[in-house]
Amino acid sequence: MTEPIPTFQAPIGTHDVLGPESARWEGLVATFAEFAYRYGFSLVITPMFEDVGVFNRGIGEHSDVAKKEMYVFSDRSDRRYALRPEGTAPVVRAFIQHQPTTPWKAWYVTPAFRYERPQAGRYRQHHQLGVEALGTDDPAIDVEVIALAARFYRAIGLTRVSLLINSMGHDVCRGAYVELLRGHLGQHVGELCDEHAKVWNENPLRVLDCKKEACVAVTSRGPMLNEHLCDECRTHFERVRDGLASLGIESTLAPRLVRGFDYYTRTTFEFAADALDSAQNAIGGGGRYDRLAEQLGGKPTGGIGFGSGIERLLLACDAEGVSSAPLLKRTVDLFVVDTSGEDAATKVVDDLRCAGFATERAYDARSMKAQMKVADKSGARLALLIGPQEHAAGEVTIRDLRSDDFEHAQQRVALRDVVIAVANLLTK
Ligand code: HAM
Repeated sequence: MTEPIPTFQAPIGTHDVLGPESARWEGLVATFAEFAYRYGFSLVITPMFEDVGVFNRGIGEHSDVAKKEMYVFSDRSDRRYALRPEGTAPVVRAFIQHQPTTPWKAWYVTPAFRYERPQAGRYRQHHQLGVEALGTDDPAIDVEVIALAARFYRAIGLTRVSLLINSMGHDVCRGAYVELLRGHLGQHVGELCDEHAKVWNENPLRVLDCKKEACVAVTSRGPMLNEHLCDECRTHFERVRDGLASLGIESTLAPRLVRGFDYYTRTTFEFAADALDSAQNAIGGGGRYDRLAEQLGGKPTGGIGFGSGIERLLLACDAEGVSSAPLLKRTVDLFVVDTSGEDAATKVVDDLRCAGFATERAYDARSMKAQMKVADKSGARLALLIGPQEHAAGEVTIRDLRSDDFEHAQQRVALRDVVIAVANLLTK
């Protein structure tokens, strides 16, 4: 007896994206690519998996993502790899490896893998659009990166987006602050949430990031990082905030915003879509990571970037009822109906596509009625009919599928004139 073939499904927490929904993805990616180009970023493509050390050293082995969510595996030669849970550490690894001239500005579109509890807006494979700028500490680049995100969100039609911003300081001032926080937490261990009551001492900053009421209550009575920045970090932060204000970009100080990865220094930020449920309303986030290059074995190099989840952006568009007007509209210009049984259709379809028209056709020599039904369903503006008569005369019939005026809705043209006739009709 042969075993029954199982019905396979996409893995839990992942999803397939098919047309026409995928046209929205194309639109988002194309719009982001256009913005990245305008702001001077070029596309970078790095492998989907890296030596696990890139992430353990990069995002920090005590971060939730490294500890609990990373997909780690050994290949057949026993090398330890991880599927990328985020885009920044791989880009910095590539920067160190290739040493491009600085400032180096790169953008990416990538899947990211995290073993999370799946729910709306939280997946095990999600997709990020992001940028990274390496080689300058100038607050102007912080402003530029944040402005790119803000302008992009506006361009795709989102209007209800808030920008939260904080400074994590640098080694010295943050180090001193962490000791103050550690002292405070040490006095209130019994009041922390179950998880942080155990691990608060490993990295006290993670407790600030905890959304549970118990931890929020303890940390809100404790010292806040923005009150303990050194002069240099405070000035840097003021210049970022003033720069944003000068562009008309509002930001709200969020002293608890430390974000989930250990690489952050100085500016950190998050964009929240107010139309989404607060648990999953972060449509983008990022910040500076001035020590990351060193942590991955490179020369000291400042950097800043952000990543934005495509799925979350689309959920936010849906929640705001945004028609995604500036996004790509995927429409069919022509549908070629062929009942001649000859090769003329293949040639004319190729000519039209070479001339730039989105052209579809029927296959399998089905009846005229069946092919016309598919043509109507395709949403094409014009149908090109090639029957035995047209074929014998070296002509085609062009029919305007959106016209009710049947008498004037169609015309016969010579095969060699089809491209010009179609161009004239479509631009009418
Ligand atoms: P992140 O905040 O972890 O930052 O992720 C960036 C964005 O990806 C989030 O704001 C959210 O929109 C989306 N996202 C994250 N996890 C999920 C998930 N499980 N399901 C759906 N969407 C998700 C980073 O990854 C940093 N690399 C950002 C960065 C770039 N920092 C500096 N440069």
